[in-house]
Amino acid sequence: MLLDPTAMPPHQFYPYMIASINPRPIAWVSTLSPGGVTNLAPFSFFNGITSNPPALLFCPSNKRDGTKKDSLRNAEARGEFVVNVVNYDLAERMNATSAEYAYEVSEFERCGLTPAPSTKIATPRVAEAPVAYECRVLEIVRVGEGPSAGNVVIGRIEMLHVAETVLDAEGRIDPAKLDTIGRMGGEGYARTRERFDLTRPPKPQA
Ligand SMILES: Cc1cc2nc3c(=O)[nH]c(=O)nc-3n(C[C@H](O)[C@H](O)[C@H](O)COP(=O)(O)O)c2cc1C
Repeated sequence: MLLDPTAMPPHQFYPYMIASINPRPIAWVSTLSPGGVTNLAPFSFFNGITSNPPALLFCPSNKRDGTKKDSLRNAEARGEFVVNVVNYDLAERMNATSAEYAYEVSEFERCGLTPAPSTKIATPRVAEAPVAYECRVLEIVRVGEGPSAGNVVIGRIEMLHVAETVLDAEGRIDPAKLDTIGRMGGEGYARTRERFDLTRPPKPQA
């Protein structure tokens, strides 16, 4: 089968992308409005970019009416956000925060999550999340325009919070304790309980 994205509407092409680019990590992004209302929403077009400087990105698309999602409005206005990591225990509450609440409504309050103070930015993190990245916006790249168009929010990591409960005896993150989930296609998710190691090949001689 061949699929030419120029020959079909975006909403018909998108399911093929999310059904084949997966499992995707989930950034549970907290932001703060200029008026001080907290916001929380999940984004699976998300990844780390580099360690020098430590940076990551998430991609809030425009809404179907072409307007900006609350997370993007706040990240633009304040120049900061927190990426909270989602484990299996938090899956239901993460999903609840994806509902399209009004700008004046805090998903922290509506969905029963606890804001905890960050150290370098005003935006709170999710106290229940095992890992949280405080970030300052480096750059926002627009990809397309209008309904469903993309916005790549690039953030410099300012502080990393890791709960003691997910560490092993050497102080490293234990993936079994962290228990992250990933997003698949449709309404599907994956757990990270089945893992394997591969030793990197040595540098080829010639
Ligand atoms: C697991 C999951 C992943 C999501 N990933 C994205 C994404 O990458 N980009 C996006 O624009 N919306 C994504 N959404 C939908 C947003 O969470 C949803 O539009 C939300 O209402 C945005 O909230 P906000 O307006 O408060 O920013 C995702 C939803 C879920 C449940």
